[in-house]
Amino acid sequence: MKLIIKNGRYINPATGADDILDVYVEDGLVKEVAKNIEKDADKIEDATGCIVIPGLIDLHTHLREPGFEHKETIKSGCEAAAAGGYTTICAMPNTKPACDSADTVKYILDKAAQAKVNVLPIGAVTKGQQGKELADIKGMKEAGICAISEDGKSVMDAALYKEAMEIAAKEKLPVFAHCEEITMVKGCVVNAGKLADALGVGGVSNDVEDVIATRDIGLSLMTGARLHLCHCSTKESVNYIKKGKDGGALLTAEICPHHFVLTEDMVDLKDSNYKMNPPVRTREDVEALKNGIKEGIIDAISTDHAPHAKDEKDKGFLNAPCGIVGLETAFALSYTYLVKEGYIDLKRLVEMMSCNPAKILETDKGDISVGKPADIAIIDIDNAYKIDINKFHSKSNNSPFDGYEVFGKIKRTIVNGNVVYEA
Ligand code: DOR
Ligand code: ZN
Ligand code: ZN
Repeated sequence: MKLIIKNGRYINPATGADDILDVYVEDGLVKEVAKNIEKDADKIEDATGCIVIPGLIDLHTHLREPGFEHKETIKSGCEAAAAGGYTTICAMPNTKPACDSADTVKYILDKAAQAKVNVLPIGAVTKGQQGKELADIKGMKEAGICAISEDGKSVMDAALYKEAMEIAAKEKLPVFAHCEEITMVKGCVVNAGKLADALGVGGVSNDVEDVIATRDIGLSLMTGARLHLCHCSTKESVNYIKKGKDGGALLTAEICPHHFVLTEDMVDLKDSNYKMNPPVRTREDVEALKNGIKEGIIDAISTDHAPHAKDEKDKGFLNAPCGIVGLETAFALSYTYLVKEGYIDLKRLVEMMSCNPAKILETDKGDISVGKPADIAIIDIDNAYKIDINKFHSKSNNSPFDGYEVFGKIKRTIVNGNVVYEA
């Protein structure tokens, strides 16, 4: 398969390139990047007026298979990823069974081999994510996991987590941490303060996240494990990350679009599509998160794509499960709320959504120089469009962003030189 992408604005942070250039792709690899490439090709993609960037990489996707196929499957989740400009996604292990063994890792990789984008499984830290006994981290590493995580919760037993981090350090696996001190969560996952008061519960204070974030940074310093903090939502977490990095921790951090687009004033307690874990925070937190992104303290933007079926989400705010889908809205929300609002430039956004995730995963992706895998997204950033949750490719459409007017429409997604999504 020979493909030429013509006349796009090629942005490749790995080389600093930002120019109108053609890209020639053959056998799944980028073979030439230059002005006006004239070559025989099986397909020509006209990217005039669009940006041509390394395919997005999501460090935090819930694909739900095995076990919760009514919410999402590996196939449908990968279709949603392709529609969102993602070419690689990391699959969280809170499935049924949990991804806690080499067998389940192999099951996921087998299914993913037929799917539209690259899938990298993440292994659970403990067996069944029960927090009692370590999973076979070494065996899962051999089977192909990219990281370990207990996402959905924290490993509350610090001694056990320390042991897991020692193994992770030895196996050269990053540890993706969901920070939540469960004993401090009161009644419902909703921000403590006026929203929690309105629901008659104590809710989730910033401390719930911060106390585990600081613990985990400490464990990372003690063990030498690479720690990646998932879905940071509090203003204090930005400070702790900065201090941890300054203090020599092998530390990276991600923020999800819902945590920098939404403030607690925007939450409609009649709509459980505003319920996610961690919860939407205050305006002050959101400003601190956006400044953390601006100042380079935060490394990545991830989705925490968490599909749930409509009847599950319809149980009311107190009883509905946490989470929203994100793969098909992440780029546009990030471009609209971070780049258009002047917090960061486009190059930095591409770094946060592709290059930095690739570095965290230690892959050669996130770079569309000559010789690299042809994982590419072609995106129109000039024309506004309305998010329509009924057009999602995901099996679920639990999103609070229906009807939002945004910029950054994905036109084409290319994985290993093959067009896997056409708008
Ligand atoms: O909102 C969330 N949903 N946060 C999590 O940590 C887990 C996720 C899920 O699996 O639904
Ligand atoms: Zn989580
Ligand atoms: Zn998650």
